[in-house]
Amino acid sequence: MPRDIHVKPFDEGTKAKLSIFQDYLREWLPVFISKRDIYWNNINIYDFFAGPGRDVAGVKGTPCIIIDELEPHLESIRNKNLKVNLYFNEYDKAKYELLNDHVLPKGNEQRDYYVQTESLDFKVAFQKRLAELTTNNSANLLFLDQNGIKHIGEETFKQIINIKRTDFLFFISSSTIKRFCEHPNILQHINLSSEDVEKTPYDQIHRLVLDYYKNLIPANKAYYLAPFSLKKNAGVYGLIFGSSHVLGMEKFLTTCWKVDPERGEANFDIDNDKINPGQINIFSGEISKPKKVEIFEKELEENITKGKIKTDKDVYLFTITNGFLPSHAKNVLKKLASSNKISKMKFNISSTICKIGASLTPIKLN
Ligand SMILES: C[S@@+](CC[C@H](N)C(=O)[O-])C[C@H]1O[C@@H](n2cnc3c(N)ncnc32)[C@H](O)[C@@H]1O
Repeated sequence: MPRDIHVKPFDEGTKAKLSIFQDYLREWLPVFISKRDIYWNNINIYDFFAGPGRDVAGVKGTPCIIIDELEPHLESIRNKNLKVNLYFNEYDKAKYELLNDHVLPKGNEQRDYYVQTESLDFKVAFQKRLAELTTNNSANLLFLDQNGIKHIGEETFKQIINIKRTDFLFFISSSTIKRFCEHPNILQHINLSSEDVEKTPYDQIHRLVLDYYKNLIPANKAYYLAPFSLKKNAGVYGLIFGSSHVLGMEKFLTTCWKVDPERGEANFDIDNDKINPGQINIFSGEISKPKKVEIFEKELEENITKGKIKTDKDVYLFTITNGFLPSHAKNVLKKLASSNKISKMKFNISSTICKIGASLTPIKLN
């Protein structure tokens, strides 16, 4: 039985998860609300496992965080005549009552956004919403903060990635898979081989879970996924973010690198690098780098010098799909130019390089 996180104050792991969610929302909302040119007038945020809104100590959960994060945008919502819809679902009736107290307008309170709440089993709620998600001309964010692992199986995942203009973030108890991988109940939800699970170190199990979901994406579909691993009590949990838009992925990665400046991927030392920030490598005299960063830099450099990565767009996509930020790629390009391996040029290492008609700059090898 998964633990009920609402019977006690939120623990540090839950707070870390909520802080990532909040930070990501802070990146996501302006893309759709603050831009000069607005493409989608309807903006929908769905929180399918909403909880009661706050923990027993009054710390805000996802529903109240969403409402708080809308606050700075209310004027834009009014001025631009945007329709912002918040949808909260919570199965447990007692929590649902509390949720209503926390999120529904009081008395004659007028708001610049709409709130709808329901108390349904996720499967029912999701299928009910799917029709509006697939037909609406809107930008959507789905948050699926399940307990355990069972709600985002192959079928639901495939349905989600086929919804247009939709970013999603879901939570999964990855170490449950490590502990119980041979149990038929687990395989029924996530079909990983017990051999792969066994040879994956406990701390890295969320990476294997990410690969499982990546393999469900059809080869011809441009879709981006990124993980963030969280240690919480004795378990490894994780967030999985998904978007069909590279800018969505960059925004999520920006959040991850803020929380984990070493690897952008976990609230603990996931590769067991044992590096203190700023530590000097006694052999090179340079600041020690996590293995993950070293591998990325080496691979990017090799791909450029071997001519496999040919333009600034290739560099940008390689960087983002490997979970890194433009700043990491710029360091590599600078190093290659200063060692005269490539010509010094002005490259565009940003999501705008992926826009239709963007002019690409070829990398000149020396
Ligand atoms: C991890 S908690 C969500 C916490 C919430 N996001 C917050 O910030 O407080 C998961 C919630 O999902 C609810 N839940 C469990 N099974 C569910 C189901 N089948 N459908 C919908 N909600 C469910 C639980 O009652 C619990 O409140």
